[in-house]
Amino acid sequence: MNTVAVIGAGYVGLTTATCLAHLGHTVTCADINETRVDELNNGQVPIHESRLPELLQDGLFQQTLKFVVGARQAVTNSEFVFLCLPTPQGDDGRADISAISQVIEEIREIIPAGSIIVNKSTTPVGTNAAIQSLIQRDDVAVVSNPEFLREGVAVTDFLQPDRIVIGATDPEAAQKVTSLYNGIDAPIITVDPASAETIKYATNSFLATKVSFVNALAAVCEAVGADIESVTRGLGSDQRIGSRFLQPGPGWGGSCFPKDMQALVRMADDAGYQFDLLRAVIEANEQQFVRIVSKAEQLTDDKLAGATITLLGLTFKAHTDDLRNSPAIEVANLLSAKGARLIAYDPMVDSEAALPEGIELAQNMEQALADSDIAVILTEWPEFARANWGALRDSMNAPRVLDARNALDRHAMLDLGFQYDDLGRT
Ligand code: UDX
Repeated sequence: MNTVAVIGAGYVGLTTATCLAHLGHTVTCADINETRVDELNNGQVPIHESRLPELLQDGLFQQTLKFVVGARQAVTNSEFVFLCLPTPQGDDGRADISAISQVIEEIREIIPAGSIIVNKSTTPVGTNAAIQSLIQRDDVAVVSNPEFLREGVAVTDFLQPDRIVIGATDPEAAQKVTSLYNGIDAPIITVDPASAETIKYATNSFLATKVSFVNALAAVCEAVGADIESVTRGLGSDQRIGSRFLQPGPGWGGSCFPKDMQALVRMADDAGYQFDLLRAVIEANEQQFVRIVSKAEQLTDDKLAGATITLLGLTFKAHTDDLRNSPAIEVANLLSAKGARLIAYDPMVDSEAALPEGIELAQNMEQALADSDIAVILTEWPEFARANWGALRDSMNAPRVLDARNALDRHAMLDLGFQYDDLGRT
């Protein structure tokens, strides 16, 4: 087993640190946020990730995992240094890798000879080479090891991945990083660093494209009288397509898809290729927000101004508390601009502070739906499908539901007397 440093205790770093400790390594995870470090050393998990609390407790109890403030504290005797740092979208759409450059400056002199820097952050093609030149140490190798962790299920995605991608120029370094994952049953794909970095962007961009495709297909189904759930059953049965990521919704969002799509378009531009296909997918996603609003307009006979609209769901998807780039917030802003009064309920959002101006927060569905002119389902929380809509209907000002996640039973809602609309279902 090995001694590993993980720099960054966010979604990726925390998952990586706890899972590598779970695999038997001795891990020191560093973050700049002292409060977060203290919380973690006390076993408190600051993010919503299933299985993470148990793994954290195990690591702390077995003393195979600890947290420190600052990268320098973590690297002194580490054989591997994982970079799990934010690479936010810059104003120009390109990925901002300043956090990585800063850490490299910090550790350059003290990182032990023979150790390996493992970049798990999502970084533009060429960053591996940039880190190698920044570190100015020919006794330290740099390996790319992109992550494919979905929020909410990151631990499962780490321990049961479809594949592990290793990008390296040095075969020995590649082999050493591969051996860290002993105990995980998954194909290891070892390529050059630029290809590893490209695989990450290609994966997220293709997934976003698949989601935008099914959203557009749902609109076609409405126009031609087909049923999207029947169509995606037939479509997804083709092994070349696969049935996952074919669920229509208000559009894709989150802390990754939007920034990774923009970064890939910019990277291609900089390299001399106009990635118009991806530009079209980004535009189609923006249009999906508008489509949801126009459906709400139709359902309220074009009377959104002054209407009370209940938003059910604010997070960018269910089973997370993350509001970053949430399609629900995009739709809320468009509805607010139409003069609607917005009341929202999301089981994982309990403070209006994180919300745009004008969204009132209710504590439960009943409160959110009282005297409402229309309910719009924007996040697929199971609570919304389980609710007793017959009882909720009578408290609404008008029984109208726009189900932008196809989360409810269409026929049951129509039988209950709701004016009901969804995405592409007959
Ligand atoms: C994504 C990638 O899945 C993950 O591999 C990568 O490491 C990080 O980015 P995440 O951002 O957690 O993970 O979200 P994901 O579960 O992929 O969903 C992205 C968006 O697409 C969400 O807004 C979700 O609601 C939407 N989506 C997803 C759909 O609308 N329909 C689908 O069928 C799937």
